[in-house]
Amino acid sequence: MTGIAEAFASARSALVLTGAGMSAESGIPTFRGPGGLWRDRRPEELATPEAFRRDPALVWEWYAWRRRRVAEAAPHAGHLAIARLEAGADVTVVTQNVDGLHRRAGSRRVVELHGNILRARCTAACGAPDDLPADPPEIPPRCACGALLRPDVVWFGEPLPEDAMGEALRAAGAAQVALVVGTSSVVYPAAALWRIALERGATVVEVNPESTPLSDLATWSVRETAGSFLPRLAEAVAARRTGDEERRTA
Ligand code: OAD
Repeated sequence: MTGIAEAFASARSALVLTGAGMSAESGIPTFRGPGGLWRDRRPEELATPEAFRRDPALVWEWYAWRRRRVAEAAPHAGHLAIARLEAGADVTVVTQNVDGLHRRAGSRRVVELHGNILRARCTAACGAPDDLPADPPEIPPRCACGALLRPDVVWFGEPLPEDAMGEALRAAGAAQVALVVGTSSVVYPAAALWRIALERGATVVEVNPESTPLSDLATWSVRETAGSFLPRLAEAVAARRTGDEERRTA
């Protein structure tokens, strides 16, 4: 812990990259772990434009189920700890999660690479505002203009929002330290971000109870859950920053 906390306490700029494991302790199932399947279907079969064209009601049933879980979930101690790291450093949270929990925990600069599940948008792009309740009244839900609504998320085979990707690349290039939490690191381009940070000489810390393609390359790979490790990290970083401040003013 000492080396990791020191790296954070001395960094001016930090990247926090999170995946589904970050929200597991808030009760939201991961994609590839136990509980990731829905009615025996893999996410890759449902989160695609083809699946939506073929059977919008089926895809929306899955999203309605996930929207309910997200609406009922709350940020856990690990989300709150990430928000606390902002005191004293320029932190950008880049998340593959669509649940909005980082913002609800108080993180201010959050880049949602894969969109947000509680938003929907019109497939005819008519621009009507989305005020769809978490549990849609009809499946598949329709826009006021009559066209189908779709979840405002990125599906497999679709490009990432350009502004979000630009901001994520900037943060990865600028970071002196990168914290990678709860991602299997198999979906690109999110998995490219820690590679950029590593190439730029950043200290890269992985927090994941399982090993991933990053584990052998990271500066530190911590085999713990987000909820167990991150609060201790935030506390250790805050103690070091306070100590540094006191030494400067003494
Ligand atoms: P995955 O489901 O692939 O991986 C979750 C990771 O979290 C695994 O490596 C677990 O070991 C780890 N994990 C589980 N519980 C944890 C905990 N309590 N604390 C820390 N880590 C934990 O999820 P992602 O890597 O986020 O994309 O998946 C990436 C993308 O693939 C998703 O955004 C989604 C998906 O299909 C789209 O839908 C476009």
